[in-house]
Amino acid sequence: MLDLKSVGMSKGMLYETIITTTNPDKTPNAAPIGVICKSLNEIVVYLHEGSHTIKNIKNNGEFLVNILKDPLIFVESTMGDLPTEDFIKYHDNYSIRDADAFVLAKVKDLKDVEREDQFGISRTSIVRANVKEIIINNECVEPLNRAIYGVLESLVYLSRKEIVSGKTEELYNMRMKEISRIVNKVGSAEHKQAVKKVMKAWDDE
Ligand SMILES: Cc1cc2nc3c(=O)[nH]c(=O)nc-3n(C[C@H](O)[C@H](O)[C@H](O)COP(=O)(O)O)c2cc1C
Repeated sequence: MLDLKSVGMSKGMLYETIITTTNPDKTPNAAPIGVICKSLNEIVVYLHEGSHTIKNIKNNGEFLVNILKDPLIFVESTMGDLPTEDFIKYHDNYSIRDADAFVLAKVKDLKDVEREDQFGISRTSIVRANVKEIIINNECVEPLNRAIYGVLESLVYLSRKEIVSGKTEELYNMRMKEISRIVNKVGSAEHKQAVKKVMKAWDDE
């Protein structure tokens, strides 16, 4: 059977995907969700209380992880509902029609916890799921990971360091800290090493 390596995922990394689930009235639902590749056959998702996605996963015990890069699918599924023609039926589920690949995941463990982060205390479900099937529509499939964009943004700010001052410098300071936080959350050891170097240069200069 194919494993997550076949869709370009590496252990320990967090990827931005579109999770599709089935509503109680059998209509499809889509939402952008970060998926952690726990091992090559297991994923973990952290889902905030109240979303359709967590309710449907609790009801159905399975979901699809769609891997794609279309920015409008990310925007439309965050801001509202995707039109039904963007979905395609896959057994009891729906995938995104233009996904480069999708993964059928079956819940193996689900824990409701209270977590505290920078935004305060929230109720979150931690879902561990096994990979059951992988369908590849595009051999060039590559899951989105924010770390490389963070490294690039931090370099752009670093290259402007000499020419900014005052409020802009303050703003850049805040952005650099946020970029470093994100890269350390979602990136590989190389991404973390890269952003550490940039942060050191930023603080030294
Ligand atoms: C790139 C991106 C990643 C996201 N990752 C998560 C996540 O990991 N967990 C979560 O609960 N919400 C996440 N969200 C927010 C949900 O997508 C958002 O709350 C959505 O409206 C839920 O839709 P639903 O009610 O149809 O499930 C993310 C949003 C974006 C744009």
